[in-house]
Amino acid sequence: SPLHPFLHALPKCEHHMHLEGSLSPDLLFTLASRNEIALPASADSAFTSPETLLDRYTRFTSLDDFLNYYYIGMSCLIHEADFEQLAWDYFIRAKSDGVVHAEVFFDPQAHTGRGVEYETVVNGFEKACQRAEQELAITTKLIMCFVRHLPVEHTNGAYAQAESHLVSGRLAGIGLDSTEKGNPPRMWQEVYRKAKSQGIRRTAHVGEEGPVEYIREALTHLDVERVDHGIRLADDEELMREVAERKILITMCPLSNVRLRCVKEVGELPIRTFLDSGVNFSINSDDPAYFGGYILDNYCAVQEAFGFTMKEWEAITKASVNGSWCDDSRKDTIL
Ligand code: ADE
Ligand code: ZN
Repeated sequence: SPLHPFLHALPKCEHHMHLEGSLSPDLLFTLASRNEIALPASADSAFTSPETLLDRYTRFTSLDDFLNYYYIGMSCLIHEADFEQLAWDYFIRAKSDGVVHAEVFFDPQAHTGRGVEYETVVNGFEKACQRAEQELAITTKLIMCFVRHLPVEHTNGAYAQAESHLVSGRLAGIGLDSTEKGNPPRMWQEVYRKAKSQGIRRTAHVGEEGPVEYIREALTHLDVERVDHGIRLADDEELMREVAERKILITMCPLSNVRLRCVKEVGELPIRTFLDSGVNFSINSDDPAYFGGYILDNYCAVQEAFGFTMKEWEAITKASVNGSWCDDSRKDTIL
C-alpha cells in the first residue's frame, strides 16, 4: 500500500497482545530443548520442527484448536529468564513496528497450574518491561487474565495471588480469556465486583466466538471498561450506541479473527461501521507468533480491506491513545 510508510510511522498503542502468544516456533523449540520439555511429536507431527509447526498455525479451525497449541507452547516456559526473553523479543519487534505504548496480557493460571511460581512469571515479564522503558522508550502495562477453561472456583485463588500487585499498580488490571463459548461472563461477576471495589481496571474477551449477549453481559455484570475483540457488537445497534457513548474501547485483532475462522476475511469485520458509529477501537495483534502478523501487519491488513484516509487513521490513532490505561501526561506526549 502507498500508505505503508505512513502506517509504519503512526505512534501505536497495543492493548491486546498475549505475551505467551508471542512465542515463536523457533523460541519454542529452543526452550523445549534447553528445559528438556518433551513436545508431543509422536502424537502430532506438527511438532516435528519449527517449520511444520508454523505451517500448522495456518490451519486453525477454531479458538479451541488454537488454544491447544498455545498451552502446549507455553509449557516450555520454566525459568524467570525464559519469561524475560519472551517479552523482550516482543518489545524489540513492537518497537520496529512503531509501538510507543504496550499493555500486554498474560495468563498466570496457565503457569501456576503446571508448577511455575507466580513470582517467576511476573518477575521475568517485569524485567523485560523495565528494559523496554529504559532502552526502547516504550511505556508498558501488564494485565493478568483469568482463563475460562479452568473451573471458575480457581479464580479467587488466582486473584488473591496477584492482589497486592493489582492494588499497588504493578499490574494494571484484570482480563478474561481462553474458551469463550459456554462460559458466559456473568460466571466471573464476583471477582470483577471485588476488583472494581478496589479500584482495579477491568477488561474481558467477549464477542469473539461468542454472541453479542456476552458483550452486554460483560458490560452489565463485570462492568468492564474495555471489550477485547467485540466483533459481534455490530449485531446489536442499541448496545453499539451505548458503547460509543460510554467511550468503551474495543480492542480488535483482525488477523487473529481470520486465522481462528471468526470471519472469512478482514473486510467482514465491522471496522468501518465502528468508525462511522463513533465506536472507539484499537488494532492489535493478539497472538502474533501464531496468527501470521505483528501489529503493523494488522494495520496494513485493515488498510488493504477498508482503504481509510490519513485523516481516518489519525482519528483511529487518537482513540487508541486515549483508550490507553496510561496517565494523561503520557497520552499528551504521544499525541
Ligand atoms: N488467549 C490467547 N489468545 C486468545 C484469544 N484470541 N481468545 C481467547 N483467549 C485467548
Ligand atoms: Zn486475545
